[in-house]
Amino acid sequence: MCARCQPADLASVGSDELARFFRTVGGRRCNSLNGRYIMPADEEELKRFDLFHRMIRFVLGNKNYVGPVQDILSPDRAARGDKLRVLDLGTGGGLWAIDMADEFPHVDVTGVDLAPLQPPVVPLNCTFELCDLDSNCLPYPSNSYDLIHARNMHSGIADHPQFLHELTRILRPGGLLILIEFDLRPIADGKFTSHPAKSGIPGWCALAEELQRCLTLRGVDVTVPERMGEMVHKLGWYDQVLQQHADIPVGFYPKDPTLLTVGQLAWMSSDLLVLAIRPLLLSSGLAESQVNGLIEAAQRDLYYPLVHIASRLHVVHAIKSRY
Ligand SMILES: C[S@@+](CC[C@H](N)C(=O)[O-])C[C@H]1O[C@@H](n2cnc3c(N)ncnc32)[C@H](O)[C@@H]1O
Repeated sequence: MCARCQPADLASVGSDELARFFRTVGGRRCNSLNGRYIMPADEEELKRFDLFHRMIRFVLGNKNYVGPVQDILSPDRAARGDKLRVLDLGTGGGLWAIDMADEFPHVDVTGVDLAPLQPPVVPLNCTFELCDLDSNCLPYPSNSYDLIHARNMHSGIADHPQFLHELTRILRPGGLLILIEFDLRPIADGKFTSHPAKSGIPGWCALAEELQRCLTLRGVDVTVPERMGEMVHKLGWYDQVLQQHADIPVGFYPKDPTLLTVGQLAWMSSDLLVLAIRPLLLSSGLAESQVNGLIEAAQRDLYYPLVHIASRLHVVHAIKSRY
């Protein structure tokens, strides 16, 4: 850990001080700590995080995790005197951290984010901190966490190899790393779209392309989601690395009741996402009229789809070697 970066414990930040963590971009409230992550940090965005959180729970079979979490966080280990710790990076509204603190009351859960969006009343074993994780050194000691979870936050990190290197440093030997990210390439009728004009969802594809272009301009590697497992494996510190993916329906077309619920939640979350991208597009040099045109065309495809839209979710879990 370097002495330069210290996370701020949210409980110690006064309510009048909280305002300095926000700025307005393109009519939405965004974080002020990191200029690369220009997605909103406001009430509307919290609704999107809530839909997303519920959707992922359905996808993971009514659980918040994959891998041997029950073993790693077992009460027996705590009873033997081990202090068990979980870190949730880019925690957003903190729903995952709160759920985990409820499910594992003997474990200390810390959620970290750029913006103070988390509720004031939380389980006693749950705390929130403010910190920009887009840094060469994370402000946490080596070998200190049993489970590290980073979900849907890769667009706030420039140097992903270094980020993964740091996660590995702070993870305990035998600890579990879980990474969950959406692929930014749209899927139409079961295939990644190679010709947007012929995809049946040209507006949806144009917005996805523009999102990728703007993130790339800001130094974000948009190929990280599909390569996370390979990147973790390359670090050489893990015994097992497993990357899986699932194509998540976006819309009301699935016949299976569980997939239909997933599709509904994904559709509602995408409907909010289309508007949430606005500040990023506006601050990447696009004129307001262009941004409005992109958003309207994407909304048309979402509201009147001619094909089945889906998004690929990548899920990695890896266990850090004990040796
Ligand atoms: C799309 S939200 C996902 C929230 C939550 N992880 C979930 O899956 O529901 C991404 C969150 O990551 C946070 N984030 C992005 N880049 C970050 C960074 N460099 N440091 C800390 N937090 C970051 C954002 O502020 C935002 O709250």
